Amino acid sequence: MRAAMTVRPTLAVVGATGTVGTVLLRILSQRADVWGEIRLIASPRSAGRKLAVRGEQVEVVALTDEALAGVDIALFAVPDEVAARWAPVAAAQGAVVVDGSGAFRADPEVPLVVPEVNAHALRRRPRGIVAGPGCTTLTMIVALGALHAEFGLRELVVSSYQAVSGAGRAGVETLRRQLSLVAGTELGTAPGDVRRAVGDATGPFTDPVALNVVPWAGTPREDGWSSQEMDVREETRKVLGLPRLPVAVTCVRVPVITAHSLTVHARFEDEVTVDRAREILATAPGVVLCDDPAAGEFPTPADVVGTDPTWVGRVRRALDDPTALELFLSGDNLRKGAALNTAQLAELLAAESLAAGRA
Ligand SMILES: NC(=O)c1ccc[n+]([C@@H]2O[C@H](COP(=O)([O-])OP(=O)(O)OC[C@H]3O[C@@H](n4cnc5c(N)ncnc54)[C@H](OP(=O)(O)O)[C@@H]3O)[C@@H](O)[C@H]2O)c1
Repeated sequence: MRAAMTVRPTLAVVGATGTVGTVLLRILSQRADVWGEIRLIASPRSAGRKLAVRGEQVEVVALTDEALAGVDIALFAVPDEVAARWAPVAAAQGAVVVDGSGAFRADPEVPLVVPEVNAHALRRRPRGIVAGPGCTTLTMIVALGALHAEFGLRELVVSSYQAVSGAGRAGVETLRRQLSLVAGTELGTAPGDVRRAVGDATGPFTDPVALNVVPWAGTPREDGWSSQEMDVREETRKVLGLPRLPVAVTCVRVPVITAHSLTVHARFEDEVTVDRAREILATAPGVVLCDDPAAGEFPTPADVVGTDPTWVGRVRRALDDPTALELFLSGDNLRKGAALNTAQLAELLAAESLAAGRA
């Protein structure tokens, strides 16, 4: 960031028109307003559009060097390749970049930060870029971080149930289109009938997602793993500061518009009790415990969508290992899974700079 500030920082939202960007503008309008100018940036396709933020209509400008001039904090919610090209440009012009894409998460010179878990990592940012993890990692990491702080995490086995909005606008449009093709039919009773009805309209997914689940997210990596599975493993290790943590992930896409869910088997250093785990989860900032299965209480995407916290339920001790817990987690992939984490990081940076300006 340029010199320590005594005035309110100028904020840029790059990707303001996208799925994450839209939620970011809503969040910026709802949270404490610490900003001076808020500049909205997207591709040249969107230049001239007006979007509401803080109750005002603001015109979107195309992403150029000039659009980034004078920006103190730049939030990036754009595809990886766009962030890879433009985040260093913003940083070179004096902005601190908070990147929500996957472009810099693995870069050792870029801290990967979740405020509730490792806010201290923000301090070292040699490239002027700070990244947030992907939405699947963010759906579990706040709750896991709280359990790790007390019990010491030793191993994770995770399965995801990922909403289609995790694949952006194209993912949402694809599921809505497919649902319109299968609604009111008796499809789903014969091999291949859903696939034939949907045809080539699989959008960003490998298979039909309506009336289906798809055990694949991302691109192929070695030995049958997918890129998103490897990302969850590496991001979890980096945020928790456990570079050799054994982590096995299976990513699955489900026909949910928004809110990812995960089942987690977490093994710790010593024996754990469900009572203590529940106490930790019930008091951890950013976590809500919702765990009374006998009363039908556990988190589901339909209930948690649009909310900020990570919701945790089905807390059980592993039947065959007193050091392990089984959990079900659910959270809005566009809020804490993307836009909220980005906004929280921006607020920490703004507070840091204002404090330095006053000192
Ligand atoms: N969706 C999630 O749950 C989620 C969660 C965590 C992280 N992320 C990450 O967040 C980023 C945005 O995801 P999204 O789901 O919001 O995608 P999206 O809905 O497809 O929106 C993409 C945004 O990027 C802009 N953009 C595309 N190409 C551009 C270019 N050449 N120059 C400037 N702007 C450009 C688009 O502007 P136009 O409207 O003008 O095309 C739009 O504002 C991705 O890196 C994604 O991996 C997403």
